[in-house]
Amino acid sequence: MTQERTSNQEYFDKIKEIKTEGNLPKEIEDQNFFTIAKERSSIRHYDPNFKIERKEVQEILETAILAPSSSNLQPWRFLVIEDQSLKETLLPIANNQNQIVDASVVIAVLADLEAYKKAPEIYQQVVDSGSMTEEIKDFYINQINQHYGNLDEMNAMRVGMIDGGIVAQQLMLTAKAKGYDTVPMGGFDPVKFVDTFNVPKHFTPVMLISLGKAAHAGFPKKRLPLDEVTTWNTF
Ligand SMILES: Cc1cc2nc3c(=O)[nH]c(=O)nc-3n(C[C@H](O)[C@H](O)[C@H](O)COP(=O)(O)O)c2cc1C
Repeated sequence: MTQERTSNQEYFDKIKEIKTEGNLPKEIEDQNFFTIAKERSSIRHYDPNFKIERKEVQEILETAILAPSSSNLQPWRFLVIEDQSLKETLLPIANNQNQIVDASVVIAVLADLEAYKKAPEIYQQVVDSGSMTEEIKDFYINQINQHYGNLDEMNAMRVGMIDGGIVAQQLMLTAKAKGYDTVPMGGFDPVKFVDTFNVPKHFTPVMLISLGKAAHAGFPKKRLPLDEVTTWNTF
């Protein structure tokens, strides 16, 4: 098969041609974790008239940030884009993917590469709750400053991307449990995004997530067999 070079835009346009499963995602009757995990799927068509209240977006984020993170440094930062004209601005930066403008909000999950600077604030909470002495806190902060403060860019990014990915998944599952749908997106120009939305220099984009009320189901879920992706004990 000859491989032709195609553009990102063509790739995202082709997604629109893939057949989806039925008209709407399956109605979820319970909030059982296994149901939510099974039924979450990337939704690319949203009801443009349905607006999720800011309070509900906050509730989703409150649950998302219960996710684990390296040394509990919680490097995730969120830019919630709810303004329609800003979504229009984002559209061409994100390969004109419809879900950018049709979903209720777009949440940019960002990673703060200087998140370790908040260690005193985070660990003081642990001291105040009586779980840690001042001495242990100071030891931790010293270790954290030495380790995270000296990471090279690649390793700092690695931490941010891992923790950002985990929080993103928790966000998407929470949204599903509340009856909403999402699609994670890496298909955008991070340089233009940072520039256009005045993202602080030490924040790096992890992904964008459209969040809204589904207007059409996602694709049928197809996965490689577990045996093909799992090795037990050693390679
Ligand atoms: C990091 C990441 C980036 C993605 N980028 C895009 C994207 O830009 N546009 C899109 O339509 N889907 C995107 N997806 C969604 C995947 O295509 C989708 O998760 C995959 O096909 C599996 O389908 P499911 O989410 O419905 O289970 C992305 C997913 C991840 C995890």
